[in-house]
Amino acid sequence: MGIQAKDQDLSRSSAALYSLKYFENKMKVGLGTGSTAEALVREIAARNLQNELDLTFVSTSTRTTKLAESLGLSISELSDVKYLDLVLDGTDEFDSELNLIKGGGGALLQEKIVASSADSMKVIASISKKVDDLGKFPLPIEIICFGWASTLQRLDNLFASSGVIFNSKSMRTENNKFFVTDEGHFIVDYSFEKIHDPSALEQAINQIVGVVECGLFVGLCDQAVTGTRDGIIEVFDCND
Ligand code: A5P
Repeated sequence: MGIQAKDQDLSRSSAALYSLKYFENKMKVGLGTGSTAEALVREIAARNLQNELDLTFVSTSTRTTKLAESLGLSISELSDVKYLDLVLDGTDEFDSELNLIKGGGGALLQEKIVASSADSMKVIASISKKVDDLGKFPLPIEIICFGWASTLQRLDNLFASSGVIFNSKSMRTENNKFFVTDEGHFIVDYSFEKIHDPSALEQAINQIVGVVECGLFVGLCDQAVTGTRDGIIEVFDCND
């Protein structure tokens, strides 16, 4: 592992470790997806927190479920639990209003459903994920496989007609095939450079026929916990 990757690793794991303090007895908690969420899952398992605090966990992806179960955690169905106290997840970017771009790991749909079912969403991340404006990280948009290219055309038209400039777009791939999400959809990643109005863009994208959901999380997150490679933790509330 290179020095930069190792630093990223340390900053993620320090944020994950800090977030354990949010757990309380009998809480129902959503577990996010990605390397930071995985660091959290490992900490939970290593400390036997599920049994100690009688926690109920719901997962946001097959990937997280597999890891959690392999470490002896029990995962419940969101449909059975219905309501969560807390979700802890990673993020690809966050701004000062705690708007997020998520979905770099391809799990944005379940992540958004789980976050929308929770009383509180906190993201845990390396400090490098904090940005002035969202948009450097390409925005993942989950789309129906049927007629995917026509959906892209409608998205292009939407951006052209509303003056939203994007630099490039690409269909997400894995092993030389289109990446397929847990829910059986494709993902297209749009590079905007700068998103001026995340709320308006989220609403406009989600109106397009063929779009399932986009990776803009607006008004869902109430705190971001960041770590550095030296283990320095900063907690951001809205407009800090
Ligand atoms: C998964 O779909 C994403 O939303 C992740 O939460 C996000 O990509 C952050 O991942 P890392 O913790 O690996 O940076």
